[in-house]
Amino acid sequence: MPVRHVSSTSDRRRGRRRTLVDLFEYQARDLFAAHGVPVLDGRVATTPEEARAAAEAMGGGTVVVKAQVKTGGRGKAGGVKLAHSPEEAGERAREILGMDIKGHTVHQVMIAEGARIAEEFYFSVLLDRSNRTYLAMCSVEGGMEIEQLAVERPEALARVPVDALTGIDAAKAAEIVEAAGFAPELREKVADVVVKLWGVFTAEDATLVEVNPLVRTEDGSIVALDGKVTLDENADFRHPAHAELVDAAAADPLEAKAKELGLNYVKLDGEVGIIGNGAGLVMSTLDVVAYAGEAHGGVKPANFLDIGGGASAQVMANGLDVILNDAQVKSVFVNVFGGITACDEVAKGIVAALGILGDEATKPLVVRLDGNNVEEGRRILAEAAHPLVTVVDTMDGAADRAAELASAGKA
Ligand SMILES: Nc1ncnc2c1ncn2[C@@H]1O[C@H](COP(=O)(O)OP(=O)(O)O)[C@@H](O)[C@H]1O
Ligand SMILES: [Mg+2]
Repeated sequence: MPVRHVSSTSDRRRGRRRTLVDLFEYQARDLFAAHGVPVLDGRVATTPEEARAAAEAMGGGTVVVKAQVKTGGRGKAGGVKLAHSPEEAGERAREILGMDIKGHTVHQVMIAEGARIAEEFYFSVLLDRSNRTYLAMCSVEGGMEIEQLAVERPEALARVPVDALTGIDAAKAAEIVEAAGFAPELREKVADVVVKLWGVFTAEDATLVEVNPLVRTEDGSIVALDGKVTLDENADFRHPAHAELVDAAAADPLEAKAKELGLNYVKLDGEVGIIGNGAGLVMSTLDVVAYAGEAHGGVKPANFLDIGGGASAQVMANGLDVILNDAQVKSVFVNVFGGITACDEVAKGIVAALGILGDEATKPLVVRLDGNNVEEGRRILAEAAHPLVTVVDTMDGAADRAAELASAGKA
């Protein structure tokens, strides 16, 4: 596997010692569901179109579009919005994707079934290191003002230590919900969910499970509408399934998207996006761009992306889509050697990809084609005369032009 060579950044990232892993809300939701905690339907989307399709697949009713970033206060920041139709879901997703919430760029949203909320509660259980125990916190006044509540009226937030050996059984859960001030008729239902949340906490080796809000819906169900889970990575040896969660949570979102699209992509730290066919060609392209970049303010290759032989227009579009979504990228170098897939096919693929991407293609593309049917490939690109595309015949010349454009875009 020649790709291993350029994988070093991501390998390093993966190998870095993390002891705690915060999950995205949708991942927490999945764990909740696996342990019987009542949650609503939810699907992840990375584009407005996917959001629209998800809302439609969920029945076309009211949904909530929720920014998936690892910080609280998404609601207050405008990252949680109601949508009454699939079209609206798409529009809300368009607004939320790309938004910056406390320094976190939103790359994905969750389309969640809309709940008819009657009341919002709060529940969390965490490892209380200073007291060498676990601590459950619970309140009937949950929702977006919980931090304020904890400061201004700490008595409204019940704090109940939980013994590691006995945990939260039915009796402990009853004690917690009573201390939190739940009305008698709700206690049993809420306690049942609290026991299940403790199940998530222990079974998954978490150090934090927080639900805010835990709600009572108008029809009387108790449902976890938001979830925050921190996993203890030291226990990963017990959880082979966590590797995937950790990867998706920790890896670069662009890498995650590329992985979903089946692309061989590694994000690097630079400004010139690279697309090529064949790992060897892509690696030498990285070298040539890094070299050319020295003469243009030190710009560097932004990624490794091998679209392989036989790449269709859709694969080219997917590749361009991932690269153009990298905010650091200022220009793209498409370097293809026509073999099994001849240059004319590649050229058609590029033109079609730009058509698919439409307004989303915003950065200059330098294309170098060589090999099988090169004349026809160049002719197709010349004829399309796309304003963003420059065709350069040599690899060195193209690298130089791409670096120059990236440097200009950076300035
Ligand atoms: N599925 C949903 N249906 C209806 N309302 C929701 C849903 N999810 C969240 N909300 C509302 O949005 C608020 C904020 O959402 P939440 O997921 O708690 O994000 P954050 O805690 O980051 O602000 C919640 O307190 C709740 O009132
Ligand atoms: Mg919340």
